[in-house]
Parts: sequence; C-alpha cells; structure tokens
Amino acid sequence: MKANVDRDLCIGCALCEQTCPEVFRMGDDGLAMVIDEDPPVETYPDIEACVELCPVGAISVSAV
Ligand code: F3S
Repeated sequence: MKANVDRDLCIGCALCEQTCPEVFRMGDDGLAMVIDEDPPVETYPDIEACVELCPVGAISVSAV
C-alpha cells in the first residue's frame, strides 16, 4: 500500500501526523507529506484511519 497526500487539498490540520506519524509528517510549509513511500503492513490500519479522518479528503491510498 502506498499513501498519498493531495497537498492542494490539505489544510494542515495535522490529524494524519497525530494518527500515523510513521507515514505522515507536517512539512515546513504547514502541509502534510508522506515520509514513508512503502510503509510496513502494521501501519495500514492507521493509514486507513487517516483516510477517514482527514476533514478535506486529502489522503488516499493506492497499490504500490
Ligand atoms: Fe492535511 Fe488532512 Fe493531514 S488536512 S494535515 S492531510 S489530515
């Protein structure tokens, strides 16, 4: 699984970083970025939670 952040949509609420810091980090510009392009399977539930939690639907997942 690969996580994606649409930075055109992100409003910097940081919920993704709080929920899954292994994969998401807030950048210096205040927007989220993906820091692990091939995250371990253990993080998949948290990544899925981020997809649901993001208030603007900026996070999506795709097959690697
Ligand atoms: Fe941005 Fe959504 Fe994360 S608004 S900071 S991608 S939860």
